[in-house]
Amino acid sequence: MSEQTAEVKKQRIFSGIQPTGIFTLGNYIGAIRNWNALQDEYECIYCIVNQHAITVMQEPAELRANTMRAYALMLACGIDPQRSVAFVQSHNPNHAELSWVLSCSTMFGELNRMTQFKDKSAKHADNINAGLFTYPVLMAADILAYNADLVPIGADQKQHLELARNIAVRFNQRFGDTFTVPDCYIPKQGARLMSLQDPTRKMSKSDENANGCVYILDDKDTILRKFRRAVTDSGCEVCWGEGKDGINNLMSIYSAVTGRTNEEIEAEFKGKGYGDFKSAVGEAVADHLAPVREEYARLSADKAYLMQCMETGAEQARRITRRVLSKVYRKVGFLELK
Ligand code: TYM
Repeated sequence: MSEQTAEVKKQRIFSGIQPTGIFTLGNYIGAIRNWNALQDEYECIYCIVNQHAITVMQEPAELRANTMRAYALMLACGIDPQRSVAFVQSHNPNHAELSWVLSCSTMFGELNRMTQFKDKSAKHADNINAGLFTYPVLMAADILAYNADLVPIGADQKQHLELARNIAVRFNQRFGDTFTVPDCYIPKQGARLMSLQDPTRKMSKSDENANGCVYILDDKDTILRKFRRAVTDSGCEVCWGEGKDGINNLMSIYSAVTGRTNEEIEAEFKGKGYGDFKSAVGEAVADHLAPVREEYARLSADKAYLMQCMETGAEQARRITRRVLSKVYRKVGFLELK
């Protein structure tokens, strides 16, 4: 047997992130850190999903700048364009094309059940556009166009992934085996980081209270300040428990950046107050993010390099999806030109 055929084919990963601002600590711990860690073991494809971003109102010049910045941030977080395909969604038209076909295999009722649609339409009541509603179909197309095996995401995207799986199964049943049914990869710690100011709500880029959200480019003083001000409860013991949303959240963050278990954290802070704990979490997060900030400063100064990586990534992405899309077109009965 030749060396090549003896080699086990790597499983494929796809994931994406919206270019709607600086990535948060939630984006980083819930998703991108894992994107980075999985690069050796899997064939990885990572995407800045700018087409998803326009489901809410965007200022065009700002979206362009944010897309460039998100791409640089993705690389600064360790995504290596030599090892992984790193590209921008609108540079591969196959996603949108597949999305149309898949939307005809998706039920209105399924989309109507998506909690993110309900949340976002409540938040953007003046702009409940059809794209916001069909957003999960485009996300399914992103994943299925690559026949991805695994999708590393935070917990908030689980419902969308379930829908992508259902769409794949339904399409396969109707037209014969076409798509891989993807699994999700959700981290054990930090799958859902909460706001530091309201630990019952998800940490989000769009948090109105800037102190609730840590951005991965925040400097050390800002990070320490945000953690010092984190909302906790009236107790004083650092331990996991019901009704201790703030402390639970801080423990998840500390665990995610130090690798320590909850028991180890409880032992470390036994007899110490919340103040000491908050400072320690701030220090650990700041140290953890320092290399990302440095790498971002270096990369963002080299626009030519970023553009070149983007172009290569887009070409690699198109090459993979073109074949999948032609297969889909054949299966559904679109007449081909010679
Ligand atoms: P987006 O841009 O909102 O977030 C990107 C990733 O970050 C995770 N995340 C979090 N994880 C833990 N705690 C938090 N507070 C937190 N906030 C965000 C998200 O779960 C996500 O993994 N629809 C997707 C983007 C997308 C996509 C895809 C993802 C489009 N196509 C295909 C995977 C595969 C989104 O809006 O993610």
